[in-house]
Amino acid sequence: MAKPATALKRRGFGVTSRRDAWWLTPAVTFIVFASFIVYSTWAALQGNHYRWGPYLSPFYSPEVITNRPGWFPHWLPFSPALFILPFPALFRFTCYYYRGAYYKAFWADPPACGVSEPRKGFTGEHGWPLIAQNVHRYFFYAALIFLIFLWRDVIVAFDFDGHFGIGVGTLVLLINTSLLTCYTFSCHSLRHLIGGRRDCLGRKPVSLACYSCVSGLNKKHMLFAWLSLFMVGFADIYVRLVSMGTWHDWRIL
Ligand code: FES
Repeated sequence: MAKPATALKRRGFGVTSRRDAWWLTPAVTFIVFASFIVYSTWAALQGNHYRWGPYLSPFYSPEVITNRPGWFPHWLPFSPALFILPFPALFRFTCYYYRGAYYKAFWADPPACGVSEPRKGFTGEHGWPLIAQNVHRYFFYAALIFLIFLWRDVIVAFDFDGHFGIGVGTLVLLINTSLLTCYTFSCHSLRHLIGGRRDCLGRKPVSLACYSCVSGLNKKHMLFAWLSLFMVGFADIYVRLVSMGTWHDWRIL
């Protein structure tokens, strides 16, 4: 009697009956996410070339502490970004979408759907340390505050020595903040919050309309997650290279 195709019970890392390139998505996720972590850490530690003319790198916004405080560890290079980046970084790190992506890409839990993992059981997010991922909703509140500063930076980016103007950098910051806004407003936590905060929907028409709106954005959350990640990195690179004189900021208006 022929064995059913789904009867594969062998164990071992990477064992699967899948025939497609299941490893491609986790491999790309690993490369892109790891590259971003390395670059953003390097950029945050530089402490220079984050401002040019009316432009401020999003890694350094808002610029709250500009001089090394007395209590700051001497062994650590001082940079204003060190007071900023932990908040958006933890907002992304605890994001429901990214969690699914980096659990697969970084610790193969599992490497992909239908592919066996290098451990016997899955403890899930009900115990330590992963239960701490539930702080995501609080980083969402912090992200809302950061958006206010980033939109202020966009408005400032139209101001060239007291005159209205538009440079390529203005557009870069505008696109970056728009994508970060879409990413933040498509967050699952906002959907839960706006839907009534309990496990059932609120009945008020305004609440339902807002819930539908956030749900529409939420369908594209993965797309916004990656586009905003690319763009926030590029916005820092743009300001940095213009500030260093490597790139010229073209004035459109
Ligand atoms: Fe991704 Fe909240 S779920 S930002």
